[in-house]
Amino acid sequence: MKAIILLLLLGQLPYNAVKPKIEIRHDSVFVTFRTANFSTDPNVFYGEVPYPETPRPFLLDYDRNVWSKNVDTLHSLYLRDIKPGKLYHYQVSYIDTVRKIECASREYFFRVIQDKDGHLKEGVVITDGPYLSIFSSTDYGIFFWTNHESKAWVEIDNKKISDNTVSRKHEIYLKDLNGGEKKYRVIVISGVDTFYTPTFKFHVKKNGADLKFLVAGDSRASWRYPAASYRINGVNFDILRLLMLNAYREGVDFVILLGDLISGVTQSREYGELQYRTYLNAMWPFDAFIPVLHVPGNHDMTAPYIKKGDIRIDPEPPNSAEDLWKEVFMLPENGPKAKDGKPPYKENVYYVDVGNAKIVVLNVDYNYTRGKGGKLSPALDKTQLEWLKKILKDNKKEHLFVCFHEPAYPLGPHIGSSLDARLNERRLIWNLLSRYSPDAVFVAHEHFYARMLTPGNIWQVITGRAGAPLYTTDVTKIPEDIKLFKFSKEFHYCLIETENNKSYLTTKTFTGDTLDSCKLR
Ligand SMILES: [Fe+2]
Repeated sequence: MKAIILLLLLGQLPYNAVKPKIEIRHDSVFVTFRTANFSTDPNVFYGEVPYPETPRPFLLDYDRNVWSKNVDTLHSLYLRDIKPGKLYHYQVSYIDTVRKIECASREYFFRVIQDKDGHLKEGVVITDGPYLSIFSSTDYGIFFWTNHESKAWVEIDNKKISDNTVSRKHEIYLKDLNGGEKKYRVIVISGVDTFYTPTFKFHVKKNGADLKFLVAGDSRASWRYPAASYRINGVNFDILRLLMLNAYREGVDFVILLGDLISGVTQSREYGELQYRTYLNAMWPFDAFIPVLHVPGNHDMTAPYIKKGDIRIDPEPPNSAEDLWKEVFMLPENGPKAKDGKPPYKENVYYVDVGNAKIVVLNVDYNYTRGKGGKLSPALDKTQLEWLKKILKDNKKEHLFVCFHEPAYPLGPHIGSSLDARLNERRLIWNLLSRYSPDAVFVAHEHFYARMLTPGNIWQVITGRAGAPLYTTDVTKIPEDIKLFKFSKEFHYCLIETENNKSYLTTKTFTGDTLDSCKLR
């Protein structure tokens, strides 16, 4: 009994998170949601999804809303004039009466259809996505969730490709694509109902081609933000969407997000999954046009965690934070094999060979354990280090970019608690990397921008302002072993361009102004 009560508590969402759903009663459409505390001023903002005729992304917008003065933990609001067959989207908001703060949900999608007797029922729809993944110059992936169990296909290059499963989550691999522009749409079928997305497009890079990609980090939310849209389910929804808008404008081939994607720090797997799906939703529809490589951070690796006294530990597989990560994302599975009983490395440690570059992603918060004095788990365990040695030895690409979350050479409040907490481990990885001269190492964790030259002549770029809160502390001392070239606390993103055997970095503010630029190689 005690265990059941505990499970119920762990399964509960916090006061600032809701999972609204569509209910059809007597041919009327309602949005219903339950809040953890008593809440008031429930609002539903909704409208038809404004898909443009040409394949291009568009920004979230609603032309209608319903509102009530109810004070309750359960709200159900009636949506007027819903036309059968059309796709609608909505978000809800409410005021929590305990914290006296406005909270908002992520964006949801629905469609109603008529059954053979003319009564309304929910039609099948993609609730999350489609989202684009990249595995190599020729191999891509598309993943999404549907509201009902469904069969699904991607229509591309006059072919229909399916994952041949009946499920709510689909991962469809697109292999051996030729270079150039691709147009695709997704078709899902559940029962007698069929749903078609509009057409999306993306560019496939030729093997050996020059690249342009965007790197940013730390898109998580903070309860300190006044705007509800800056802290939806652990994600800075507005800033992340703005980042992706910039990625689209810059015409990049792909985006790398360097961890602390979500606030994490939850004992509820359900809430962890809601946070990740909110993160993907915040980037939509841009992430249907641009593939994103996700890198794990310490906040991500505490979704979920287990508390043992003062220590937070990673649950054992299949309930670990790494398992949830793997379940949510569709990323390369070329990482090392984990020891029996340990969380998987698959999809949180990987590499992508694309164009003329190799991108290597490491998980420096693997099997994350935290005590009162800070992180207890190693930064780069032996398994990852051995794997990295082999990957670097076999590398045939002209350019090498290494990405992980916590800096090897931190600069701000995280001095002494990042990779520099274990100097022997840092020495091992830095010695190894210096032998292969990466163009740059990209890290985040510290909420600012800093480009520095570190021992071994390695560029380390800290980029951690894709939504995470601004630090009040300043950088007062610069470690002797680094040479700092540029520092900024503004929201920003890094653009990397490879050109034959040369590579360049341009760092821009969200207004498109250049903060920093340099030749990396
Ligand atoms: Fe972090």
